[in-house]
Amino acid sequence: MPGRGWLFVFEGIDGTGKSTHCKNMEAHLNKIGVPVARFREPTDGIWGQKIRKVLTHGRVGVTREEELSWFIEDRREDVRNNIIPALNLNKVVLLDRYYYSTAAYQGALGLDKDIILRENENFAPIPDRVYIFTAPVEECLSRIENSRESRSSFEKLEYLTQVQKIFNSFAGNNIKKIKSIGTIDSIHTQLCEDVHQLIEL
Ligand code: TYD
Repeated sequence: MPGRGWLFVFEGIDGTGKSTHCKNMEAHLNKIGVPVARFREPTDGIWGQKIRKVLTHGRVGVTREEELSWFIEDRREDVRNNIIPALNLNKVVLLDRYYYSTAAYQGALGLDKDIILRENENFAPIPDRVYIFTAPVEECLSRIENSRESRSSFEKLEYLTQVQKIFNSFAGNNIKKIKSIGTIDSIHTQLCEDVHQLIEL
């Protein structure tokens, strides 16, 4: 395992605001002079590109096991090329999605979430903190609808309800659930307090 920055993960279904908060945290840390790196999964690498094709064209002809293996290969690259090098530079690493997404989204297809978590923890550094953003699924879908032309095959009500249920089931000392109600600013303030406390700023 790397020798050691900090690893913060932003998780949740689309429309909960996780990406906004991840970007806002990057801006905040930059502003106060803390070395920071932000990455997102799926990445823009070869596996990530394969995944994005499924997102736009649907899961036709792709088994759930194949889909799972693509997310894991994509993450192996991200860990090797981005996450470990940044942690070795003692940066605060912010991740927009990580292996909790795999456990939740591919778990919601019927695969075993605990096996997925274990398989990932064999090679992926365990985060210092995981923020799991939650909001009513209908509200998330309408937020997505207002900001995009169409929904991807990952964005159906029943499926996302199951995904969010799995996200809600995660527990541990490093996991914090964030209810995405209230203003972006008030949630940002809450996140900043937690980050400052953890990394002793
Ligand atoms: P998303 O964060 O929505 O990407 P973008 O910023 O391009 O909108 O991620 C794309 C989708 O991939 C999202 O619906 C969740 C899904 N996903 C998985 O199913 N498993 C995973 O392991 C990851 C990282 C994402």
